[in-house]
Amino acid sequence: MHIKSALSLKGTGKFIMSKKLILGVLASGRGSNLQAIIDAISSGALQAEIGVVLSNKKDAYALTRAKKAGIPAIYFDPNNYPSREAYDTVLLETLRAHLVELVVLAGYMRLLTAKLVRPYLGRMLNIHPSLLPAFPGLHAQRQAIEYGVKLSGCTIHFVDEKMDHGPVIAQAAVPVKAGETTSSLADRILIEEHHLLPRVIQWFAEGRLSIEGRVVRHLTD
Ligand code: GRF
Repeated sequence: MHIKSALSLKGTGKFIMSKKLILGVLASGRGSNLQAIIDAISSGALQAEIGVVLSNKKDAYALTRAKKAGIPAIYFDPNNYPSREAYDTVLLETLRAHLVELVVLAGYMRLLTAKLVRPYLGRMLNIHPSLLPAFPGLHAQRQAIEYGVKLSGCTIHFVDEKMDHGPVIAQAAVPVKAGETTSSLADRILIEEHHLLPRVIQWFAEGRLSIEGRVVRHLTD
């Protein structure tokens, strides 16, 4: 699969952006990764706009961050839907209504169904706080410490129908120090997440990412 959202001027290393990439961000919690995206857009490091932020948690601070930045922020209560598929269908309709081209799962703590994943295959990213395929699922930092690894980090990958499984786009490594706690490791991994996520979105916006099976290739021009 070849993803192209920008035209490349062959040989010049330059890209012509026809328009800004429209993002939809799904978040369940404090939204520090959402904030990193908002800040990167404000600074000009990321040429994109956030069309909408969606959450499955009413009190997610991510919703507050979005509203402060003037971004539409919507909470959908999972209890109002008879199935995960029905819930994901309303998310899909909302993302489409906001013309979202790339979905970013930024701390979205709910399993997705094919209803949402398939229409956005190759156009949906997740950030996970371990070096996948090690330690998928919840409490990745705690899993890393308890396993005794000396290196952990974060992974950004395209989303497929299995949790924390799709093709890896980028990773950043963080050493696990002696006496490390879950929260000290999580804090240091988070610093890397905030650097890496806006960069990866910018690569996507420039049409630099190409998926071949499980392997994501980074095009240089
Ligand atoms: C991050 O550690 C991310 O990797 C994981 O959930 C956490 C979300 O943090 N998927 P925040 O809500 O972006 O602050």
